[in-house]
Amino acid sequence: MTDIATTARNLLDAGLGRLASADDLESFEVIQRDVLGKKSALAALNTHLRDLTPEQRREAGEAIKATRDTLTEESARIRALLVERHRREQLAAERMDLSELAAAPAGPPLAWSGRGAGHSHLVTSTRDELEDTFVAMGFTVAEGPEAETDWYNFEALNMPPDHPARGMWDTLYLRLGQPGQVLLRTHTSPVQVHLMESGMLPIYAVMPGRCYRRDTPDARHLPVFHQIEGLVVDRGITFGDLAGVIEAFTGAFFGPGMHSRLRPSFFPFTEPSAEFEVTCPICAGGGCRTCSNSGWIELGGCGMVDPNVFRAVGIDPEEYSGFAFGFGIDRLAQVRASLSDMRALLDNDVRFLSQF
Ligand code: DAH
Repeated sequence: MTDIATTARNLLDAGLGRLASADDLESFEVIQRDVLGKKSALAALNTHLRDLTPEQRREAGEAIKATRDTLTEESARIRALLVERHRREQLAAERMDLSELAAAPAGPPLAWSGRGAGHSHLVTSTRDELEDTFVAMGFTVAEGPEAETDWYNFEALNMPPDHPARGMWDTLYLRLGQPGQVLLRTHTSPVQVHLMESGMLPIYAVMPGRCYRRDTPDARHLPVFHQIEGLVVDRGITFGDLAGVIEAFTGAFFGPGMHSRLRPSFFPFTEPSAEFEVTCPICAGGGCRTCSNSGWIELGGCGMVDPNVFRAVGIDPEEYSGFAFGFGIDRLAQVRASLSDMRALLDNDVRFLSQF
């Protein structure tokens, strides 16, 4: 074997070792240039070929080519791994933690009890994921009170006293102030009113929180449950924007291949109103028991903000338009985790909770 062929073999081993030692993209680029670049020892070998006999030249040329091919392949593989690792690290670093705990000053560590560390409840982690998804889409997160007045829960939402649509919500009233005036909010829609009243336009916000209804718990209803509300108010907002946001959210939250559709409905605070459905996450649209073989699951309500709502909060409906949506977080968690009975979310059975 010629000296050149031997050197090429040695350069192959050394090059493979050096490429494998790169621990980030920056050091990889430097190593790759050293190993395969124009000024590399491998490139320098070519200049010695002309001193050889034709027979030797062929053998040495083949050895150089084999080394170069293997090193090129290996460097492409390692580069792809490092790019993927970099992407994952960047996502982890940019992930926003909106919990209050994260903002709390670091105190002394809690005494280690020797048991499992525990984790968020399924409903809490679903809410966190929803917030992250909407924040990534450019929304802010807002909250409002759980005890509301009749005005915020109903009247400002285009339901004057005795309006029949109030019957859509079985309301729990508090013995506070004027009789029938203070209640536990039946939905998160009153937070829309607080936001719009503040007068800070435009609004692109989601509002998660706890809601209450005079309901007997069953497989699909809880008297205390969670909703997330969405509200966009700006100049020139159209129904197309609403449909686009719902579709973008569906893809971002449920993953590729999942879609949304809107069907006509009625809510007093939106006109026109719609129910929005998403591809059934259990059967991916193929049809199953959960979606009654339709391939679609109803998630919540939405529509264009009714001009009467704008007037109630002092926004000019000739200048501004907007859309709103709202859906149940517990219900979403139930569907995604294929729970036949929602009451499991309240039982606090560790054998159930630790599965999520
Ligand atoms: N608040 C409604 C409910 O609890 C859900 C809803 C429907 C919210 C339409 C909206 C909307 O913002 O536009 O049933």
